[in-house]
Amino acid sequence: MPQTILVTGASGQLGRSVINHLLGTFKVPAERIVAATRTPASLSDLAARGVIVRKADFDNQASLAKAFAGADRVLIISTNEIAIQGKRREQQLAAVAAAMQAGIGHLLYTSMPNPEPGSPVIFAPDHYDTEQAIKASGIPYTIFRNGWYDENLFMAMPQILASGQWYTSADNGAISYGSRDDYAAAIAAGLASDTGESTTYTLTGPKAYTAAEVAALVTEVTGNPIQVIQLSDEALTEGIKAAGLPESLAKALVSFDAAARAGDLGMVTDAVEKLSGRKSVPLKQFLEMNKAALAG
Ligand SMILES: NC(=O)c1ccc[n+]([C@@H]2O[C@H](COP(=O)([O-])OP(=O)(O)OC[C@H]3O[C@@H](n4cnc5c(N)ncnc54)[C@H](OP(=O)(O)O)[C@@H]3O)[C@@H](O)[C@H]2O)c1
Repeated sequence: MPQTILVTGASGQLGRSVINHLLGTFKVPAERIVAATRTPASLSDLAARGVIVRKADFDNQASLAKAFAGADRVLIISTNEIAIQGKRREQQLAAVAAAMQAGIGHLLYTSMPNPEPGSPVIFAPDHYDTEQAIKASGIPYTIFRNGWYDENLFMAMPQILASGQWYTSADNGAISYGSRDDYAAAIAAGLASDTGESTTYTLTGPKAYTAAEVAALVTEVTGNPIQVIQLSDEALTEGIKAAGLPESLAKALVSFDAAARAGDLGMVTDAVEKLSGRKSVPLKQFLEMNKAALAG
């Protein structure tokens, strides 16, 4: 009996990319894929290709019971609800509970590197508690601790390139950036496989870079010089707030630098290549392919 694979958050960037890899890279028949989203109308293109589209909102338990019915392997994509502290944790625990009630066979989840208590990343507890709930559920699981996306650089880089200055508190802490699409390919491989083993993978890019090394690569690619200026966490938080960002976002961004400084985001693994069977895109190549997005 062929297995039914369900992806939550299917209209998000990672969700869409996972489904593209299920269909294209791993040749999973469309009728075995359920794309679950809060906005089914936004996935009419997938429905036209034969993918089953269902409504699923982690804030609505009844929608989850309906969506998960009959699914064998379920990927819970972590939500982007980080503005209200604790909200994402609550949503994801609801999704794990619904997966248990639906009697699914294998649960997969997108977490973050080193989310254990003590992580400086302010939303690490959302991921850690979800991982713990998955382990306590008794459902065989695959946890993907996704490293920092290359695409995160698109957020600050336009402003950094415009000013020529990159303020950071990461010191010499390195981040093993990887492309979202590479992570998606690895996750799709895990979904398409029929393994029943419980495993935790840390998905990373092929190399870790300090801010100074990323700046040097961006300069090579764009020709624009960047001066990296190290600040304390406190000074960086105040600077980000002074630039007009809300305090909650300033604290989140600075917590990433603190995690890099602590060495929590620099681990390099070969999990992406092993799972997906393809070479990860090196950061320089990614930057070259996305030169326009770097400039904003
Ligand atoms: N490692 C990193 O560097 C990094 C960077 C950014 C984000 N992330 C995390 O990875 C996730 C996927 O990344 P992305 O780039 O695809 O983000 P994205 O495009 O912003 O997508 C946000 C995702 O959250 C889902 N979502 C939000 N509220 C939900 C709810 N109430 N119920 C169910 N799903 C909900 C959305 O699903 P629908 O809209 O389809 O319902 C969508 O899949 C993010 O949500 C975030 O947790 C990681």
